[in-house]
Amino acid sequence: MTEAPQVLLAEGTIRARVDELARQISRDYAAAGDLLLVGVLRGCYIFLADLSRRLTVPRRIDFIAVSAYRGKAQTSPGAVRLLMDVRTDIAGRHVLLVEDIVDTGRTLRYLQGLFRARRPASLKTCALLRKPERLQNAIAVDYLGFDIPDAWVVGYGLDYRDRLRALPYIGTVEPDRWGEGEPRGGP
Ligand code: IMP
Repeated sequence: MTEAPQVLLAEGTIRARVDELARQISRDYAAAGDLLLVGVLRGCYIFLADLSRRLTVPRRIDFIAVSAYRGKAQTSPGAVRLLMDVRTDIAGRHVLLVEDIVDTGRTLRYLQGLFRARRPASLKTCALLRKPERLQNAIAVDYLGFDIPDAWVVGYGLDYRDRLRALPYIGTVEPDRWGEGEPRGGP
């Protein structure tokens, strides 16, 4: 029998931290005039929705999609590929990349390179979660929600095999246990 995810970050803890991040970002971009939030699909969708609603500065939203993990249990990294580009011309704009989680940092490094080449006015990164033990190279995260241990996490937009994204909290699962058949115990 498959166990339910173990709560790592409760709903209220996430909400309080997202509030703080929104206040900090609003302060930092108060003079910028316009901010373009670029969400990295699909894991960012709940975080980006909550964050963007709490910002007090003018902002636009766009999305980019990169390849998902392709390992055996779909938890080990493959090559990063661009699946869907933004629609916005980002030259001269203040861009904030919004990521759900920085694991090895490969996705972020790829995206920072891609966006820098397009000459934005500024480029910063906001990530809800980061796993410091897994990071393969030093990568700048300007706004960070939480550093977390090396475990597979689900909920608040994050998935395991495209399941469990709608959990209101962030929980850990053991990929081996969840690797066969359908996960149970959550949306
Ligand atoms: P990175 O390129 O190794 O930093 O991986 C970044 C991407 O891997 C994230 O945007 C997620 O889509 C996915 N990912 C990494 N760790 C987790 C996790 O624990 N749960 C869900 N998705 C994850």
